[in-house]
Amino acid sequence: MRGVTTSRGSAAGDDADGEARIRPVDRADLLGVFRIEKAVFTQPWPYAAFEGLLDAPGFLVAEGEPGGDGRPDAGGNAIDEAIDAGDVVGYVVGDVTPNHGQDIGHIKDLAVRPDAQGRGLGRRLLRASLSELAAAGASVVKLEVRESNHRAQDLYDDEGFRPGRRIPRYYGDGEAAFVMRLDLGEWVRERNAGES
Ligand SMILES: CC(C)(COP(=O)(O)OP(=O)(O)OC[C@H]1O[C@@H](n2cnc3c(N)ncnc32)[C@H](O)[C@@H]1OP(=O)(O)O)[C@@H](O)C(=O)NCCC(=O)NCCS
Repeated sequence: MRGVTTSRGSAAGDDADGEARIRPVDRADLLGVFRIEKAVFTQPWPYAAFEGLLDAPGFLVAEGEPGGDGRPDAGGNAIDEAIDAGDVVGYVVGDVTPNHGQDIGHIKDLAVRPDAQGRGLGRRLLRASLSELAAAGASVVKLEVRESNHRAQDLYDDEGFRPGRRIPRYYGDGEAAFVMRLDLGEWVRERNAGES
């Protein structure tokens, strides 16, 4: 079991190679998290939803990686400021629900600041959170993703999530969700095999 350590650093430590540092969320991060949430989602979670999940084992943030310039992404979204060291540039919210010996992990939210996307940070956040969920006892992980969000679906598929049922009108604007599911034990074994 790798626990919190990933091949590219520790969820609770920093990276020696100058990449954004991934660590557990702190209350002081929530404004930065909420700012990204509002920039990337048409129907953002309310601030209080993040507050209520501060203790979730897979709620992690990525900080730093100075050099972003506030440029809009292809969708025209932007945070109109350069990235300073210590700024939150991405986050992932993962939680575990006890379930009679087969605890279920849930990736509830994942986002990267628009001008920091496409550099591998979303994948690193996802992997770090999955490691935390495994360490917290989850054996499977599920998530919901918008039917139209092919970019996120590609990432989840590439990490081993498989599509399950489609839930019509899951989102407030009427869009359907796909439920995707990962065998976390298998994911950990594959990651360990890849590292040895
Ligand atoms: C989805 C998201 C978190 C991915 O983060 P990211 O840092 O941009 O992604 P990464 O650079 O780690 O790329 C991981 C994978 O995502 C997919 N991906 C990334 N950029 C892509 C693009 N422009 N087009 C298609 N797929 C893309 C690819 O599968 C990529 O793997 P690869 O680099 O090996 O090809 C980010 O795009 C985001 O915040 N989107 C808005 C919020 C959102 O949709 N969250 C998911 C909710 S379910």
